[in-house]
Formats: sequence, structure tokens, C-alpha cells
Amino acid sequence: MFSCYIRVSAQLLFLLLLHPRHLNRNFFHSLAGHETVSSTLAFTMWALAQNADVQSKLREEVRTIAGEPTYDDFVDPNLLPYLDAVCKETMRMFPPAARNEKAVQEDDVIPLRQPIRGADGSWIKSIPVKKVQVIHIPSIGINRDEAVFGDADTFRPTRWLVGRGDAAEAKYCIPGEHGIPPADQMCGGWSGLFTFSEGPRICVGMKLALFEYKAILTTLIRSFQLRDTGVAISMRNFGLLAPRITGQEHEGLNLPVKLTLV
Ligand code: HEM
Repeated sequence: MFSCYIRVSAQLLFLLLLHPRHLNRNFFHSLAGHETVSSTLAFTMWALAQNADVQSKLREEVRTIAGEPTYDDFVDPNLLPYLDAVCKETMRMFPPAARNEKAVQEDDVIPLRQPIRGADGSWIKSIPVKKVQVIHIPSIGINRDEAVFGDADTFRPTRWLVGRGDAAEAKYCIPGEHGIPPADQMCGGWSGLFTFSEGPRICVGMKLALFEYKAILTTLIRSFQLRDTGVAISMRNFGLLAPRITGQEHEGLNLPVKLTLV
């Protein structure tokens, strides 16, 4: 039902945003727009099912909203900081576009922030690239770099908060504050992550995606209790980050979560 809701809402938005004659572009935007948001929401529900304490704190926070949430509730990270932290942590750990590719326009040299040791023992400080060469950028690897995030494979939304976990005291923090590395140690994308890429070709739908994500997650978490099914999940990158049940990979994409009414 929710995946249906997400698809319908995303498609309505695309129809409003784009000229209907541009069918190819519409198809691309449908893929870029709704599969990405629904994938991130699915991973969020799975992560919350496994982290009951995070789930309760998130529910506690969104229940403080009197009536329906407003636009400001979702765009100002100080109003619902725990929701914002869950959003950032999911976008960090489960970027739907787990890798990105760029084609080199002209021969160039890419400087490295930190030198790496080559096979011959020498230190490499930059990488020469040639025109038309394709560079693969591991978005998920950047987002889960232990040198930057420490326990990078752990789902811990409080890493993004000053209040460290108490939803009532939680306060949004920025790179360089309270355990979040300084901006110059992170990549230049949204919140120091590579989820939406960075630079002039950064995802054009990013703000809409974040708004949509928070609006849907708020609705879900207010009404449903999410529980873990106990099955192990493995992830592969099939264009989008793809979850499958370990040992049952042949059955295709799967990310089961038990839902009951709160
Ligand atoms: C969680 C949700 C989303 C994620 C993680 C995401 C991520 C990305 C990434 C990594 C790129 C590639 C940027 C590059 O070339 O380096 C991209 C491009 C793009 N995205 Fe998103 N996206 C999301 C949602 C959306 C939504 C909701 C829309 C539209 C309403 C959208 C529209 C686009 C478009 C049109 C591009 C191409 C931009 C260009 O080439 O200049 N995306 N997105």
C-alpha cells in the first residue's frame, strides 16, 4: 500500500513538474525520483524494525506535532531533529545510487586528500586520468568511511545530534560539532555525504526527495509499529541498492518487515 502511495505521489509530482511531451525525460525522472525515495524508505523501515529504541524516540518526536505537520517541520532540521537525524543516517548508510560514474572530459590529474600507498610502496598523491576514461565513485563507500564516521556500519542516528539520543533534548548539529567531522574531512555533498552526488550535477530533486521522505516516514511511524523478521539481508548494487534475503537471493528483491498498528 505504501509503495503504491509513494509511486502515485511521485508520479503526480512529475506530471506537475515536467512537460508531458517529454516522455523519455519523464521515464528518467520517474526512475530517479520515486524508486530512490521508496528504496530509502524501505531501508529506513527495516533499520527502525531492528532498532526499537530509535523507532520509539522517532515516534515520540513526531507525536509532538500538533495536528498535521507543516512544510517548515520538514525543512527546518531544528524543529524535528530526531526525524532529521534518522533521515541523514539512512541516506548515509543506504544511498539508493550506491555508486556513481563520471566520464572524463579532458586529460587531467585528480589530487588526493590523503596519499595512498602504491603496490611498490611509494606514496601516491594524485591520479592522472585520460579523456573518455570512466571513473567509478563508490558513494556507499564514501558514506561508510570509518576514517570519517568511526562506527560507520552501525545505524546510529544520534551521531547527527547534540542531545545524543533523548528526542526531547536533541538538537541538530552541523559538520565539525559534537562528533560530526569538520566539513573539510567530509565530501562536499549534502550533509557531507555522497548520496545525492555533489557539485553542479548534484541531484536536482534533492530537496523534494528529503521533503517527501520525511512526510511519508512521519505518517508511517505515527501509525505503525515495525518489527524485525529475523532474516539476514545481503545487499547488491543493481543500479539501485538492492536488498535480498541471504540464502534466498534467487527469489529477487526482498526486505521484509512486520507491521502492526500502534
Ligand atoms: C533519496 C532520493 C534521491 C537520491 C538519493 C537521488 C540521488 C541522485 C544522484 C546520486 C544523482 C546523480 C547526480 C550526478 O550525476 O552526479 C541524481 C540525479 C538526478 N536526480 Fe536524484 N535522487 C533522489 C531523488 C530524486 C527526485 C525526487 C527527483 C525528481 C523529482 C530526482 C531527480 C534527479 C534528476 C533529474 C537528476 C539528474 C540531474 C542532472 O543530471 O543534472 N532525484 N539523483
